[in-house]
Amino acid sequence: MRHAPATLRNREPILNMLKQLLPQRGLLLEIASGTGEHAAFMAPALAGLVWQPSEADPAALDDINARTQASGCSRILPALQLDVTAANWPIDRADAIFCCNMIHIAPWTAAEGMFAGAARLLPPSALLILYGPFKRNGEHTAPSNAQFETWLQGSDLRYGVRCLDSEVLPLAESNGFALAEIVTMPANNLSVIWRRR
Ligand SMILES: C[S@@+](CC[C@H](N)C(=O)[O-])C[C@H]1O[C@@H](n2cnc3c(N)ncnc32)[C@H](O)[C@@H]1O
Repeated sequence: MRHAPATLRNREPILNMLKQLLPQRGLLLEIASGTGEHAAFMAPALAGLVWQPSEADPAALDDINARTQASGCSRILPALQLDVTAANWPIDRADAIFCCNMIHIAPWTAAEGMFAGAARLLPPSALLILYGPFKRNGEHTAPSNAQFETWLQGSDLRYGVRCLDSEVLPLAESNGFALAEIVTMPANNLSVIWRRR
């Protein structure tokens, strides 16, 4: 089974942030669930919420489902195969969306698809929460993020740490999302939270 070591380091701070923000009830769509480790760890601690994992890579779905079933949490649904760049998503409503570490490890079209799809799914004032590294005003916020970007672009030149100010915030705004909060997270990451207008 695949394992993402970073999830062990970031899961507690992310869970604490989600606990402060998420509604008491409803359906949370997780985009790019990866190994399913976040879903299996966080959903049991978010009583009242139904957690919907999803992933573009069909080969990842079995691992996600195995992990979430092993958690014993009945509020985690079977993972959906969801590529954010698709015009139609296999889900038509969510009460909140969480996406961790995806938009820099994918072409920019993934960020565009994610905001467009989130705009279709979310009702007014619902939350969209992104976690990951971001540039601020065109600059890396730490040498480790610059090194990470060099490594990322070694595998695919379309990947890269996105600039929150000049790229991501304008994209969010153009899709009808109002910035609610930027939370500094460990290891030079941010959580960026928007509300659907
Ligand atoms: C670095 S992993 C992060 C996984 C997980 N969120 C985590 O934090 O461990 C990036 C994930 O983005 C997914 N991904 C890439 N392009 C995507 C797309 N177009 N739609 C949905 N997921 C995508 C990949 O399959 C991969 O699982």
